[in-house]
Amino acid sequence: MSSKSTDQTKVVDAYIKKHLIGVDEGLEHAYTNSTEKGLPMIAVSPAQGKFASLLTTIGSARNVLEIGTLGGYSTIWFAKAVKGRGKVTSIEVSPHHRDVAIENLRAADVQVPEEVDVLLGAGLDVLPKLVAEIEKGVREPFDFVFIDADWPNQWNYFDFGVKVSKGQGAVIYIDNVVQNMLESGIVGEKHRDGDAVDVVAKAGADDRVDAVVMQTVGSKTHDGFLLAVVK
Ligand SMILES: C[S@@+](CC[C@H](N)C(=O)[O-])C[C@H]1O[C@@H](n2cnc3c(N)ncnc32)[C@H](O)[C@@H]1O
Repeated sequence: MSSKSTDQTKVVDAYIKKHLIGVDEGLEHAYTNSTEKGLPMIAVSPAQGKFASLLTTIGSARNVLEIGTLGGYSTIWFAKAVKGRGKVTSIEVSPHHRDVAIENLRAADVQVPEEVDVLLGAGLDVLPKLVAEIEKGVREPFDFVFIDADWPNQWNYFDFGVKVSKGQGAVIYIDNVVQNMLESGIVGEKHRDGDAVDVVAKAGADDRVDAVVMQTVGSKTHDGFLLAVVK
């Protein structure tokens, strides 16, 4: 993108935040406290957080699963959206990120673990346990799965996301698929990384879901997410 279009996307994002999002102390604190505690600035933007949380409202989601908590910024959005109706379960591999997230969630008046449970561990270690708990009937399946962790495992998380979902009508959202495709050379000019998994092609060939990718611009770089509905 040219620097002029980057400037324009920032101005528009600020305008959107001013009129449609406003200032929420808990969310603002999550950003500033995470930065102060040394976490990377890779949380979703305010508009993305609101968009994802609105999707859970549209679908009346009760149980939300997030893979990749960081400082809990997106987690707070989901917790607010399902408050009084459901619960958020979020998986995070870094103990420091988990601790900061819990601090941020509590500062945002979110009850931990009653409203949000942050499970410490690598996604691929925790997810099979969730599958087993759902199969045993000791955990409810998920209505909405938000994948925002390590990119090379996006497809593995997607596959688990379908398995832990309630089935028909459940939504699976993978963030950053466009940047992942561009950086691994699946599309675009970069030399293709031979190990790169083509999440978009795999979702398109997967009879369990109907999916689309939306490209995004905003205060962050050009990117995009994959949204799938379980059939
Ligand atoms: C992009 S950040 C998540 C941002 C967060 N969802 C938000 O928008 O506020 C990615 C997070 O995934 C975590 N992560 C990376 N690899 C992981 C793994 N294998 N299992 C679980 N979490 C992982 C990182 O430690 C980091 O906190």
